[in-house]
Amino acid sequence: MNFLEERIVKDGVVKEGNVLKVDSFLNHQMDIKLFDQMGEAFKEKFREKNINKILTIEASGIGIACIVAKHFDVPVVFAKKAKSINLDGEMYTAEVESFTHKTKNQIIVAKKFLTAEDRILIIDDFLANGCALQGLIQLVQAAGAEVCGIGIAIEKGFQPGGQIIRNLGYQLESLAIVESMNGETGEIVFRSQE
Ligand code: G4P
Ligand code: NA
Ligand code: NA
Repeated sequence: MNFLEERIVKDGVVKEGNVLKVDSFLNHQMDIKLFDQMGEAFKEKFREKNINKILTIEASGIGIACIVAKHFDVPVVFAKKAKSINLDGEMYTAEVESFTHKTKNQIIVAKKFLTAEDRILIIDDFLANGCALQGLIQLVQAAGAEVCGIGIAIEKGFQPGGQIIRNLGYQLESLAIVESMNGETGEIVFRSQE
């Protein structure tokens, strides 16, 4: 097991409905030393990509993205969620559906913060169905920028997002991929990765 898998086993809690609670170190209280190890791991994986900007989505992607950004020495832009917005032409927008919350949000980024020259690393805490990622990819494409990689802390391998995004041809690196989890015993099985 790697450092994140070990931490998930130690402090993660399997909840009903295939939800993994990691709010003691990732989602609510945040362990910055752990985030720093994640930043180092992503830097190693995307070192050759000439990343010049990190893109994430509010809320819980932001903390991780900021620490990762230190390792790349680049700025972070986060997409904002908006229920209804004034489309003044200064924003790129995409629609994101949340299966967990059964809601639809628009996500937005100001045009001035995404440009055609940008080489983007997308960072997020969870990958489940992949809707958030697809929205972020749309924003990058709308700007004519390039998605040069995608880094996820925890991928739920039994939900379809990972396969959808990899099939699109993106280099998607998840530091932990949960293959299955048992709500009764609390057992968590990870996909083995090289
Ligand atoms: P998707 O983007 O992969 O399609 O995710 P989905 O709609 O299934 O999930 C909605 C929200 O729930 C996302 O956060 C996602 O990160 C989070 N999530 C999904 N599965 C789990 C899980 O097992 N454990 C935890 N802790 N979170 C999970 P969000 O509402 O978009 O954002 P945020 O404000 O929480 O960052
Ligand atoms: Na979340
Ligand atoms: Na998130």
